[in-house]
Amino acid sequence: MAKTIVLYYSATGTTKAIAEYIAQQLGADLHAVQAAQPYTSTDLNWHDTSTRATVEQHQHNSRVAIKDDLPDLADYDNVVIGHPIWWGIPPRLVATLIDQLDLNGKHVALFATSGGSTYERSQSFVERTIKENGYEVTLNEGAVLNSPARVDQWLPRQNFKK
Ligand SMILES: Cc1cc2nc3c(=O)[nH]c(=O)nc-3n(C[C@H](O)[C@H](O)[C@H](O)COP(=O)(O)O)c2cc1C
Repeated sequence: MAKTIVLYYSATGTTKAIAEYIAQQLGADLHAVQAAQPYTSTDLNWHDTSTRATVEQHQHNSRVAIKDDLPDLADYDNVVIGHPIWWGIPPRLVATLIDQLDLNGKHVALFATSGGSTYERSQSFVERTIKENGYEVTLNEGAVLNSPARVDQWLPRQNFKK
């Protein structure tokens, strides 16, 4: 039987709750990705454009370091990655995550939670980062999943290895 892992980054717990629900529905393993330097509430204040998250998000193609405890993906067939949307795209550490995971040969699906943004720009961000790394992956169409009901609609449409 195929094995699935759900990796997620969540600054304030919303994505974490959805990631836990997805992992439960799939019988998948779960791993929380953390920033090497955690974000404070000041760092996350998007009303002040000089704060960390906002500055990082506006630096095109930049990377943010993650804590060095990523699982080995060798045993997994399917990889689900969840994140919030910051300034229309995934937090920059998601690019670092894609760089550092060996996604070659995996079936990959991404999801986000957001305050209203849809997934289109995030999908382009993810596709570009996968291409930069030269990975051959089966990439699903990502989606914003702000509720378990959305997950229930989304999951059956994913192309996962069985
Ligand atoms: C720095 C920052 C920027 C954000 N930018 C957006 C945005 O562009 N569009 C949007 O819909 N929500 C935006 N949000 C809201 C988050 O996407 C939303 O609250 C998300 O569910 C948080 O997930 P988390 O609790 O797992 O961190 C932003 C939040 C932060 C902290």
